[in-house]
Amino acid sequence: MSVQFVAGNWKLNKGPKEALEFLYEFKEIVPENKLNQFILFLPALTLGAVAKSLAETELGWGGQNVFFEDEGAFTGENSAAVLRELGASYCLVGHSERRQIFGETDDWMAKKVALLQNHQIIPMLCVGETLEQRKAGQTIEVITNQLRAGLKEADLSGQLAFAYEPVWAIGTGEVATPEMAEEAHAALRTELKKLSGTSGTDFPILYGGSVKPENSKELSVQPNIDGFLVGGASLKPQSFFDIYKNC
Ligand code: PGA
Repeated sequence: MSVQFVAGNWKLNKGPKEALEFLYEFKEIVPENKLNQFILFLPALTLGAVAKSLAETELGWGGQNVFFEDEGAFTGENSAAVLRELGASYCLVGHSERRQIFGETDDWMAKKVALLQNHQIIPMLCVGETLEQRKAGQTIEVITNQLRAGLKEADLSGQLAFAYEPVWAIGTGEVATPEMAEEAHAALRTELKKLSGTSGTDFPILYGGSVKPENSKELSVQPNIDGFLVGGASLKPQSFFDIYKNC
């Protein structure tokens, strides 16, 4: 499979000024007809401030997280309805940092996926095993369980995207081998087909975890890897683009 999307997860990096500088530089180096193959996940405050500039590009873009209710007494949370109002078309759900640092549960993921779909925002559901789980031979069980749980309330005939991100490979410089990644992606694809019938073949499944321009090619040639979710290397326009270009 060739690369359909390269998505950048900026995490808690870049304010509005840096984001606009990035956009300016990125548009200089990426051919215009390729821009729609990139997605940016921006920090919420930055996204709100630069939404208008993002809307003027062909880029896909969205939030890193929303709550599973649109409004109410939920101090500090972000709303999917507002994300839609701003013009976003994607949102991450269940990134391992949300699961591990903020204690978010599979039940929350299921509600978030359904709510985002109701707002015509494509949820990108993230799954991945810890190092302990991998060593214990539980990888496939863990990620397929996370997948099923996250899709419990989803419309499987609607639009969905996925990311396989082994927790031990995120921000560590340690990337999964192409074989490890392909095994996980193939298992997710099989599960998606079971759950949704033939549409399971069409959902993009991105690999994430220390993706760089140097390792993107060997991962991209795997049949079930449809692109990448990139943290650190998405912060610089050139390295973000090179991940795509090198494939
Ligand atoms: P990384 O992060 O590319 O810095 O490992 C990936 C992610 O967390 O999405």
